[in-house]
Amino acid sequence: MAASPPQKINVSLDVNGETRNVAIRPADTLLFILREYLGLTGAKPGCLNGDCGACSVMVDHTVYKSCIMLAVEAVGSKVTTIEGLKDSPIQHAFIENFAFQCGYCTPGFIMNCHALLKNHPQPTYEVIKEWLSSNICRCTCYEEIQEAVMSVIEKRE
Ligand code: FES
Ligand code: FES
Repeated sequence: MAASPPQKINVSLDVNGETRNVAIRPADTLLFILREYLGLTGAKPGCLNGDCGACSVMVDHTVYKSCIMLAVEAVGSKVTTIEGLKDSPIQHAFIENFAFQCGYCTPGFIMNCHALLKNHPQPTYEVIKEWLSSNICRCTCYEEIQEAVMSVIEKRE
């Protein structure tokens, strides 16, 4: 007899300040649920292996790679996706500093930079560089992304 598919469970996720009720399988990743069930396609599938950072989102105050996080692990936390950062200073800084080309990696980089600025209000150049090393861009040099972060810090001062 064929094994029956895993039962779905009903959960509530707090995403970008809204409560979203969704039926998930225990093994569904957060990235899959955000994109396929909640219509939030800003977080991108890249490597699906935790290496590229294209799928980065914030869960409470920490940036996570949503391709390797189970959706069920986000229950009870506040999830922020790129859609939740509309009109944020770091988004504008990316545009002003030409910090992207094809843009596929950009939502992940913006989420990561947002988390950086939350966790390190005055990061040194070395801290920015190290922080950005968790995300991969195949078409820009990282210089413009670092400048975007620096410009947010300068505008605050
Ligand atoms: S898609 Fe998640 S780290 Fe690459
Ligand atoms: S801008 Fe194309 S992968 Fe980063």
